[in-house]
Amino acid sequence: MIPILDLTVQYHALKAEMQAAISAVLESGNFIIGPNVKAFEREMASFLDAKHAISLNSGTDALHLGLRALGIGAGDEVITTPFTFVATTEAIGIVGATPVFVDIDPRTFNIDPRLIEAAITPRTKAILPIHLYGAPAPMPEIMRIARLHGLAVVEDCAQAIGADLDGVKVGNFGDVGCFSFFPSKNLGAYGDGGLITAHSDDLAERILALRAHGGRVKYYHETLGVNSRLDELQAAILRVKLPHLGAWTDGRRTVAGRYAEAFTDVPAVTPPWEDPRARCVYHQYTIRVAERDAVRSELQKAGVQTMVYYPVPLHLQQVHESLKFGPGSFPESEAAAAEVLSLPIYPELSEQAQQTVVEAVKAATRTPVVA
Ligand SMILES: Cc1ncc(COP(=O)(O)O)c(C=O)c1O
Repeated sequence: MIPILDLTVQYHALKAEMQAAISAVLESGNFIIGPNVKAFEREMASFLDAKHAISLNSGTDALHLGLRALGIGAGDEVITTPFTFVATTEAIGIVGATPVFVDIDPRTFNIDPRLIEAAITPRTKAILPIHLYGAPAPMPEIMRIARLHGLAVVEDCAQAIGADLDGVKVGNFGDVGCFSFFPSKNLGAYGDGGLITAHSDDLAERILALRAHGGRVKYYHETLGVNSRLDELQAAILRVKLPHLGAWTDGRRTVAGRYAEAFTDVPAVTPPWEDPRARCVYHQYTIRVAERDAVRSELQKAGVQTMVYYPVPLHLQQVHESLKFGPGSFPESEAAAAEVLSLPIYPELSEQAQQTVVEAVKAATRTPVVA
């Protein structure tokens, strides 16, 4: 089976260094907010061109605490898309705000900026674009609307670490950028982890307090906070990986380039479109195909693992039934949910394995599908 992602190859390449880093933490007896966390935050700030980079225990917390630090709460509305991982709207719900959905651009799977203004109401406080699959959302257009209407912008960068648009790394356009180190992410920990970037000193101070039980000084609590810390072990692991992230991204882009070339003469396959202003980091390589589920099962039979991110758009999920949307409310998101198929992509994917995937996709999309 050709897996969609194989993390063991990366581990074996870094094994000696990784084991030494883990062992050093165990020997130090220092597990929370120690030297690795502090150094990792500095290294991430530099990698992301961010003024402040604050590590947390997940990408979900980055979204949640970012919204809270911006003062978004009960009665407020946050504009986002229904074609994302549930953590995006979960964070909006956790702070007591309501997600207001805007449909996606079918070429990019990201928020369609032409539809945002119609969704703004007096309660709108923020726009929350997702850089889905590693492709930057159209941030210049989003920022223009946000500035015009005085809205905050929270970037969901969970899938797009290191991606840029016009040379500006994602996470630097809005008020905060929210990153995830979930193991399968382009920079993945060996457990949960997350990080938030901010330019404003004030905002960074508030996030630092929120992540540590609502206080800046130990045992003095100003506000209701949470416990959301990256631990030393995960920081040490991520520090071993971070210097390789640039090369891994190049590797992903090479794989994506080979797919794009291979699918040019396959009309049944719509490869992902790359905004010419953007440098996508290809967290996923997601094609669109008709009869997706049948194609997927053919690929499975041919020994190729694929995934569907995401089969049900959020406006049709039970968790959001109180928003009272039915089928047809966001047609582009619904069409995407029915057609997307993510193919194996990781920096170490061999040309030979990729050729097998391509041949299997060609065969599966030519197969007449019997209903
Ligand atoms: C788009 C998106 N947002 C948010 C998250 C949440 O990140 P985490 O799993 O680290 O909480 C994820 C990843 O799982 C994601 O893909």
